[in-house]
Amino acid sequence: MIKDFIKNQIRKTGMVRALEMDNEKLKIQINNLEKINNLEKEKLKAAEDKLRIVGVKDQLREKYKYLNPHKLDLIDLAFQKIIPNADSFADLGGTWRVNGGYTFYTIDKYNIKSAFLVDTNINDPLLSKVNEYGNVTLINDNFGENIAIDQLGELDAIFLFDVLLHQVKPDWDEILKRYSTICNCMVIFNPEFTNSDNTVRLFDLGHDEYLENTPYDKDHPTYKSLLENMNEITNYDSERMLRDSHELWQWGIVDKDLYTKMKDLGFSLQFYQNLGNFPDLKNFENHAFIFKKD
Ligand SMILES: C[S@@+](CC[C@H](N)C(=O)[O-])C[C@H]1O[C@@H](n2cnc3c(N)ncnc32)[C@H](O)[C@@H]1O
Repeated sequence: MIKDFIKNQIRKTGMVRALEMDNEKLKIQINNLEKINNLEKEKLKAAEDKLRIVGVKDQLREKYKYLNPHKLDLIDLAFQKIIPNADSFADLGGTWRVNGGYTFYTIDKYNIKSAFLVDTNINDPLLSKVNEYGNVTLINDNFGENIAIDQLGELDAIFLFDVLLHQVKPDWDEILKRYSTICNCMVIFNPEFTNSDNTVRLFDLGHDEYLENTPYDKDHPTYKSLLENMNEITNYDSERMLRDSHELWQWGIVDKDLYTKMKDLGFSLQFYQNLGNFPDLKNFENHAFIFKKD
């Protein structure tokens, strides 16, 4: 039953890559999902209904077409159906390659009183763009640190788009814990690990497997010697060793652990979608989640 439903879900949402997954991979994915005790048919059915409202083309989609449409769908789903009265959010790690695109899309489309973008790489394009908006605060800091979190106050939502697997010191699950006390809804898009029952620290896989499971160029000198240099201070963050840097892929998080952590923190899954393999990585898939505080 659940298998059919997942297959339908994938087919309906036009996830070509997911459809191309071989049976073995699909079986692992389904097994992983079945282990998540609450992720049953009813929840997925609710997700299916919610999917109908997203993907609507509007002028803003045209303006923001350089962004990932699945992340925009997640934002629409959250602000239209899951937290329709929301007027505040924080986009955690919203800079690289998108310069606050998800923040500005949300403000352009919804009735937002206050928004925050927290990133260690606040750059000039962001600084000039933010002047067009009166309700965005940029925080140039590590969003895992309490010093950043304390500036945010109570929020309706946070976005964690392609950032969770990078988080160390504090680790990804501790970050979820810290934010669980200040926000009602977590909108997550994350490459999830599919080759293990439990979450793994990617460095623990060893040099070859680390490179096998990350999107880095194996022949590039930086990555060739990466694991030998784990204790060196990074170029980007002069206070951290590479092993503690969010610039690198750090974790292979599995759905079960993310789901269980959120459940323990008092959040329930409102939406789940598998968006297929992360390009060129056989053990990672892009998964989307929306969790809301119970
Ligand atoms: C892979 S990019 C994702 C960008 C954007 N969220 C997206 O979905 O396209 C990661 C971004 O998050 C930032 N980042 C990751 N971890 C962070 C942390 N703990 N504190 C502040 N910024 C962080 C990086 O500087 C970078 O701008």
